[in-house]
Amino acid sequence: MGAKGLTIGVFDSGFGGLTVLRELLPLVAGAHCVYLGDTARLPYGSKSRETIVRYALSSARFLQQRGAQLLVVACNTATALALDELRAALTIPVVGVIQPGAEAAAAACREQETGDREQEKMAGVLVLATQATIESHAYARACAALGLKATEKACPLLVPLVEEGWICEETPAVGGSANDAARASVTAQVLRIYLGEALRDAPESRALLLGCTHYPLLRPEIERTLAELGRPLRVIDSAQATARVVARILSENGGARGGLTGVGEATCEFFATDSVRKFERLGSRFLGRPVGEVQLVDLGG
Ligand code: DGL
Repeated sequence: MGAKGLTIGVFDSGFGGLTVLRELLPLVAGAHCVYLGDTARLPYGSKSRETIVRYALSSARFLQQRGAQLLVVACNTATALALDELRAALTIPVVGVIQPGAEAAAAACREQETGDREQEKMAGVLVLATQATIESHAYARACAALGLKATEKACPLLVPLVEEGWICEETPAVGGSANDAARASVTAQVLRIYLGEALRDAPESRALLLGCTHYPLLRPEIERTLAELGRPLRVIDSAQATARVVARILSENGGARGGLTGVGEATCEFFATDSVRKFERLGSRFLGRPVGEVQLVDLGG
């Protein structure tokens, strides 16, 4: 660590990990965050384990070379498929999004305990994620270790819908066109189908875990749909849970690793493996503020 403060590397297959960075920034004053969006190879969620591991390793190595002292794998798919390989290959601590998400879900379910021991044994969480994350059953394993039954539901249409901006704004833009409303209603319908199917298979679920970086942008619509379906489950965001875990690790290890300066806003630097213009445009939606300048980097195939 230099005088600048601790450097945190954050990577995702693309823009989605910016939802993790958005939650992290207010908790790591004084840190310098280097974000890499592997947009040239996006999406990871429909690819094989071998490919995801290869992509994740090259993204992570890039960030370690840029001086990262801690790596946040801000991608559920890369965490599910490549966390062990990343930890084995890197010399810095690596934090994924799945364990924090599962722990937050378990805590939410515990808060709703009924006192009935039979019902408690059945307590569960519904996990929505990409196809690759669901097929890995990484969330199911993490939840089971915490005494929680996970019902997993792959929602492959949601990432493209979010990236295309087909989302329902909480406050629709003044002058929004009829087409905007029609696009938003397509996403609402897709959510109704996915959630309807998932809830039928998960009568015991008490919480719903957003197991993909893109889904926090759909949170209001997901909560609305759950209410309409008569199952207003508590929604847990693994991005928020991960940011809290990273902040805790850093403050616990402050002495040993140089920690955070705790002074001034965290600073950011952005890299993408494909069009920087697209990253600047789309990224702002995920980060909740302008991304600013993005640098292009070539990580190979
Ligand atoms: N970032 C991915 C995740 O959280 C979603 C996008 C992708 O499939 O690459 O699983």
